[in-house]
Parts: sequence; C-alpha cells; structure tokens
Amino acid sequence: MLETKKKNGFASGIGFILAAAGSAVGLGNIWGFPYKTAKYGGAAFVLVYILCVLFIGSIALVAEIYLGKRAQANTVTAYKKVKKGFGWAGLLVCLIPVFIACYYSVLGGWTLRFTMNSFQSIPEAGNAVTMGSFTANSYEPVMYTIIFMALAALIIMGGIKGGIEKASKVLMPILFLIIVAIAIYSLTLGPGVEKGLEFYLVPKFENLTFDGVIAAMGQAFYSLSLGMGIMVAYGSYTSKEIKIGKSIAMISVFDTMVAILAGLAIFPAVGALAPELFAPDNSGSLGGVGLVYSVLPMIFGRMGDIGQFVSFFFFAMIVIAAVTSVISLVETGVQFVIQKFKAPRKIATLAVCGLCCLVSIPVAWSIGGEIGGGTWATFKVFGYDLLTFMDEMTNVVLMPLGAFCSCFAIGWLMDEKVTANPFKTLDNLKKDGLELHPVFGNIFAVMIKYVTPLLILVIEVAGLITNINKSVNFWFTIGFALLLAVISIVVYFIAFYKRDTGTNADELAIGVKTEEKVEANA
Ligand code: PHE
Repeated sequence: MLETKKKNGFASGIGFILAAAGSAVGLGNIWGFPYKTAKYGGAAFVLVYILCVLFIGSIALVAEIYLGKRAQANTVTAYKKVKKGFGWAGLLVCLIPVFIACYYSVLGGWTLRFTMNSFQSIPEAGNAVTMGSFTANSYEPVMYTIIFMALAALIIMGGIKGGIEKASKVLMPILFLIIVAIAIYSLTLGPGVEKGLEFYLVPKFENLTFDGVIAAMGQAFYSLSLGMGIMVAYGSYTSKEIKIGKSIAMISVFDTMVAILAGLAIFPAVGALAPELFAPDNSGSLGGVGLVYSVLPMIFGRMGDIGQFVSFFFFAMIVIAAVTSVISLVETGVQFVIQKFKAPRKIATLAVCGLCCLVSIPVAWSIGGEIGGGTWATFKVFGYDLLTFMDEMTNVVLMPLGAFCSCFAIGWLMDEKVTANPFKTLDNLKKDGLELHPVFGNIFAVMIKYVTPLLILVIEVAGLITNINKSVNFWFTIGFALLLAVISIVVYFIAFYKRDTGTNADELAIGVKTEEKVEANA
C-alpha cells in the first residue's frame, strides 16, 4: 500500500499535459483572446499571437517546465538550484499566482452564479440576475467566491495524482466537447453569422497597431500561464520519462485552439442575434467582463428556450476552465508551504485558500462597486477597483518579469558548463535532463539565451514608453508591482537564503509519515 504512495507526481504524460492545459485554458482564452482578436485586426492579430507563442511563449514554457523538472521541488528551491542568490525569483513567482488567485476566484464565483442562473432567464432582459444587480450585492459574490474556492481546495487536497491530474483528465475533454458543440451551434444560427465571422477574423492589418503586438505578447504569457511559477511547479511533478518538447507542443496547440473556438462560439451568435453590438459606439461592450456576464446572457435570452441550455453549458464550461486554472494558481503556493514548513497538504491548502478567500472579499466589493454601484463597501487603489489594479500589476509588470527571470536563469545563470557555449548548449542541457528534438533544441538553445529575453525586454520597455502619457495612477501601479519584487528579494535574503526550502521528496516524506501513522492507529 505504501508502494503506490511513494511517488507524488503526475502518473502519466497525458495527465501532466491535460493539467497544464487546464491551467492554460481559462478566462483569458474565453473572453480575452476573442475580444483582442476582434479589436486588433482579426486574423492579423491571430498571426502575431501565434508568432508570440512560437518564439516567446513556447521557449519560456520549455524553460519553466524544465526548471521544475530538474529541481523536483517548489519554485523557490528550483531557482535556488540554478543559483543560490537567484532564489528570490522563485519567491516572486510563487507570490504572483496567489495574488492572482485572489481576484480570479471572484470571477470564478460570478461564473458559478451565472451557471446556476441559466434556467431562471426572462426573455429579452436576459437572465433573472443581471451583472449589475449581482455584483452590487454585498454578500452573494463573496459567497460564490468561497464556494468556487472550496471546489478548487477539494481538488488540491487530493494531491497531484489523485486530485489535480484526475480532475483535469475528466474536465478538460468535457470542456473541449462543450466549446466545439457551442461553436457549431453558433455557426449555424443563420443570417448574420457571417457578419460575426467578419468582425472576428477578417484580417485588417491597419488595426494591428503596436499596442496590438504588445497585447499579443501579454495574451500569450497570460494564456500559457507563464511567468508565475505555475509551470515550474507542475513541471516539478513530472518524471524523467516525460518529453518536454512534445508536451509543450500539445499544451500550446490545445490552448490556442480553445481560444480561437471561443471566438467562434461567441461572435457568430452576436452577429445573428445582436448585430447592433457591432456598431462602433457599442463595440466597447464586447470585451472583458461585460461580454461574458452581460452581453452573453442577453444573447442566450434571445435564443428562446434552447438558450437556457446553451447558457448552462457555456457557463459550466467557463467554470471548468476557471477551476482548472485556479487550482494551478493555488498549488504553486501550496507546494511551497508544504515543503518549506513541512505542513500536511490539507493544512497547507486550507491556509492558502483561506488567505485567498479573505483577500477576495474586498476585491469582490470593490469591483462590485465599480460595476453595480454597490455602496456597502467600495475600495479603490490608485483610482482603480481592486480587481483591475491587481490584474494590471500582474499583467503589465509581474508576469513578463517572471518569464524574463526563467529565461535568464537558464540562459545565463545555470552552471556555466551547461550554457557557456551556445553551440554546445544542447548537448549539455541533454546531460542535465532536457531532451529536445535537435531542430527545436538548437533553436531553443539560442533563443533562451539571447532572443527571447531580449524580446521580452524590448516589448516591455516599448510598451511602457507608449504608455508614458497614462495617468499618474498607472505609474503608481507599476511602481507597486516593482515594490512587490523588491519585497520578494528582501524577504528571500532574510528568511530563505540560508535556510532549507524543501523539495518534493520532503513532501513525500510528510505523506508517508501520515500514512504510517494511519496504519499504526488502525
Ligand atoms: N492561463 C489562464 C487563462 O488563460 C489564466 C491563468 C493565469 C491561469 C494565471 C493561471 C495563472 O485564463
């Protein structure tokens, strides 16, 4: 019995791929990608997006999975194993996802509410509960956030193999089937569908501005869950046999496919049932939260009776996408807490999820105040509602910084024997456990050292320069994000630099101990 417990990690390659894809496919695919595509020139944007995935995203994805796999440990130890003084990057990328989980779970809670609401719709007015009335309420959004978080916690408590892998293997195929079915339905809604397709995909290179290129890179990071330790954490639970090259190809293709399908599910339906939204002065409503929680319910309302079912499956699909993402966000922190503090998984999960729930309360009120005009309590930071503030901080600064750190760690900080000569890098990486197909591998060796970090830097700096005229509040937000990075550095050197920060083996030891105790008691 103890034998089967010996390995705490993904049981199979496909289990790992589905879990990583589960993390990647999330709200970003469903409302971020379609909207940005429509805004920045349709297929032209898709092309740039795919280039970003190929040249930046996939390289950083290999880097992060490999960092985890070679360390077989949490993010802090993983970066520490590259260079002791660089462990702070591991702490930073461990904090970012916990931070994101605090607002992601609020949106997850909304989605849960709208799934349940599907069968209460009233014609034309859309659903019985509107985004405005729901978000203005001071306790409902909080309650649903907590239920959503509890679902995630249950899965995480099951461990990697018994919880995260098992759930992903069941949920991801369901998600895919639902989105394909809805896209097909949407494409067959009759006249107007082609208007939607035109709005979404017809290439308009004149709309692909520099902002569009920056948006494509940001979207690629966000969508592939990069720059926030997640892929390092998941990678650490993979075994020697896993082929990183093949895995990242499947993860990226799956993630991109779902993103494109999401647009095919949404815009043809808008074209057929609410074409007035394509008028330039209305198209603002086709992005962000408004699209999912306000426009879609209205469109489902216009579908007649079948709309209730479409609504149910659509929102349930988003719940699946969001749950499999939030478990990866939380797991990154949970892994560190287990391994550093030798805490049992259940306690660590409760601690991290509990903290996220607490922080999510003011976040829910803050965005509720912004949207629904809730007056019970509203919070603003630098003029932003808390959700936008946290999202801006993580998207604009922290994720690119995290992704840069992972490329930099491998390209420049890893054992010089491995990276000194780019022409030999591939062989050396192979000795270090990273086996890639020679064609991709050689590209990887050069990209990881020079091109990808430079591209991230250039696009980031250029992006900030184009924002130079933005409000003072924007710059405060950037400053605050950098402060978080500084805090990680200080805390790391004070608390973790000299001390052991644990590995997956420690986690296993805790598990075995618990197991033995149970047996002894029995
Ligand atoms: N990749 C997810 C998405 O596309 C979001 C996510 C971000 C998940 C950060 C985990 C971490 O929505």
